[in-house]
Amino acid sequence: MNPFEQNWLFTREERNGFEREALDDHSWETVDLPHDWAIAGPFSKDNDPEIVIVDPTRNVRTTYCHPGRTGGLPHVGRGFYRKHFRLDWKPGQSVRVEFDGIMSRSEVFCNGHCAGGRPSGYASFAVDLTPFVRNGENLLAVRAENLPRASRWYPGAGIYRHVRLAVTDSVHIAYHGIRIHTEGDKVFLRTSIENPTGKKVPLTTLLLDPSGKELSSETSSGVTDFRTEFECKNAERWQPGSPVLYTIVSILGSERIETRFGFRDLVFDPDKGFLINGVSMKFQGMCLHHDLGLVGAAVNRDITRHRLNLLASIGCNAIRTSHNPPDPEMLDLCDELGFLVICEAFDEWKRPKTPRGYNLLFDEWGERDLRDMIRRDANHPCVMMWSIGNEIDEQYYPEGPAVARRLCDICHDEDPTRPTTAGLNNVDDSLTGGLFDVVDVKGFNYKPYIYSKYHAAFPEAAVYSSESASTISSRGEYSGHIFEELGRKENRQIDSFDLCNSPGATTPDHEFKGQDDNPFVMGEFVWTGFDYLGEPTPYREEWPVRSSFYGIFDLCGIPKDRAWLYRSRWTDRKVLHLMPHWNWEGFEGKCIPVQCYSSFRRVELFVNGVSCGVHAKNPKKLFGTYRHVWSRVPYRPGVLKVNALDDDGKILASTEIRTAGAPDHLEMEWERCGEMVFATVSVVDRDGNLCPHASGRIDFESSGKIVAADAGDPTSVKPFPLPHANAFHGKCAVWVRGPETVSIVAKTVLNGEEKQLQMIAK
Ligand code: GAL
Repeated sequence: MNPFEQNWLFTREERNGFEREALDDHSWETVDLPHDWAIAGPFSKDNDPEIVIVDPTRNVRTTYCHPGRTGGLPHVGRGFYRKHFRLDWKPGQSVRVEFDGIMSRSEVFCNGHCAGGRPSGYASFAVDLTPFVRNGENLLAVRAENLPRASRWYPGAGIYRHVRLAVTDSVHIAYHGIRIHTEGDKVFLRTSIENPTGKKVPLTTLLLDPSGKELSSETSSGVTDFRTEFECKNAERWQPGSPVLYTIVSILGSERIETRFGFRDLVFDPDKGFLINGVSMKFQGMCLHHDLGLVGAAVNRDITRHRLNLLASIGCNAIRTSHNPPDPEMLDLCDELGFLVICEAFDEWKRPKTPRGYNLLFDEWGERDLRDMIRRDANHPCVMMWSIGNEIDEQYYPEGPAVARRLCDICHDEDPTRPTTAGLNNVDDSLTGGLFDVVDVKGFNYKPYIYSKYHAAFPEAAVYSSESASTISSRGEYSGHIFEELGRKENRQIDSFDLCNSPGATTPDHEFKGQDDNPFVMGEFVWTGFDYLGEPTPYREEWPVRSSFYGIFDLCGIPKDRAWLYRSRWTDRKVLHLMPHWNWEGFEGKCIPVQCYSSFRRVELFVNGVSCGVHAKNPKKLFGTYRHVWSRVPYRPGVLKVNALDDDGKILASTEIRTAGAPDHLEMEWERCGEMVFATVSVVDRDGNLCPHASGRIDFESSGKIVAADAGDPTSVKPFPLPHANAFHGKCAVWVRGPETVSIVAKTVLNGEEKQLQMIAK
């Protein structure tokens, strides 16, 4: 851990003069950064409820309150941080503090003096402390403030991204002052130097190959602006599946900065779709909000890596950072793991989606925030496009195209090598009004039905689905009733048959069909990879319901059924996944819908050995093309089984679900990623079958630090850090930090008997 991020002092108590050196702060809480002040809760329906006024122009003046819109956590209001630190500083040295993001409206003070700040919570920025620091003890004080009704999702609160203190010579490489781009085998490099002396200084640049071996070097002398070119014959290419990274080392005096980059050629072709290094590739993408589930917005490299690994396991190869500039470490990981990225700048321009959202900042800060995002992120080979916005309201208004033009010009000015894009949902107005023409690559949100129509009208437009599906489900939740009853439920859950979606959105199948019928479409970005805090559509007026239902994985990272659907489509792996559970007590003889997500074309379903028929994927039926469906299977307790068959009826694979007996014991599976261990506990019967109705409390103990426990139930308002959770459909998760071997103990009571399970994670 960066020592500068340790031992900050924090309070939420309103403090006048919180920045004063003389202030007595001994009663403040000690925290380490990154820190999200709101994630520990408590949840409440009074935390940032949204007041919805339904369109008065339609003469329907309905006002209602939507309590879960941003997750019901206490992120609104002010928070104050102080950091006492010692500096070994000599006059002439420069000192700056770099913040990757503070949520939000930050003000930064050094030794009592206002030194800077940033209104947008997603922007990275540096504050020059040189005029204020001294040799010896120093004080940094930061105020952050979240306004109510300023976000459409849980934004997090406080200094939630990394912070670094940089002490340099007065002549130094500027913050984000290194820009690298490649063309074929050539590397072009531009380095900006802060040089108050006005005299020439030498800058040495090295090019390292992926193993760290030096390939070339150059020393040149200049004042502020340095340009260098290298040729790297037969450079290995970066791409998903083989993310080869080279490094540029920049040396100026005692300063040495390493910047990774990659060689890749991207083509966005209206007919052939997307090509990387000459080979066509579909975006198998996910939209991701920035929260990391149980730890909220506080960034954590190991958790981010774990989540990217989960997405890779179902074939995901691309991320859209919806709807804001991401944490820079996330881009480092996408470079390393091989994900393509769309960096998105805005969810709002000047017209509001939320009363106190970015619309209040757009005029003053829009250009600066956009430029800064590009300056920070342009060296990442993973970044393929700059998105100037998501479903921006200006789509509906005449000024839209002009604003879009200005933003695209800024993007091209900062980075002539990458195209711009936007997520457009109002395709009709965007087209007639001209906004569609302005962005280089056209992103459609939820429009699988119109790809061919628009391709015919605009054959020169390269298109993809910037947002698809918005299918909603709760992990493990199924009604025993037939499909007509899908949708809102008394228990504030959504069935997991993957047939429900937000208004105006679709099931996965509709998007698959749109893509299959229109091969020029470059692929899709599914809404969303993971459930996230806030936006619990369709439960607007209900409480408690704190998190969304959109994820392919739940808030803990446990896969929902849909994970197998995407895996069957996006990977070459053999997939045979059956649902629902087979514990329908009281439903004997009634009909239950059964589905199978599979890579196999033909499957045969059995209940207790009796065939329910062979189902072959049939492109004439939408819900028979991408999934196997039996809408009425008579329930008898026992074994629900499916065999995958070849055309001659030979069994290629099979899977089954058994009716579980009484809960008998716990089982635990875990995965380690760096210092974090992610364990999933299941309540099972004597034979190890998952008990799908188990909902009892499970307590955890560990030799490591229990960071959070939860079961992915959107209606739970148990604070995440408490070391227990109620099982949700038989499962729950605990996240433990422990760099070395850790033991995790799970305890519960099953049928009046105490049960305990210990697991050692290496
Ligand atoms: C989209 C929007 C997303 C999210 C999603 C939910 O229209 O761009 O941010 O709100 O709907 O379905």
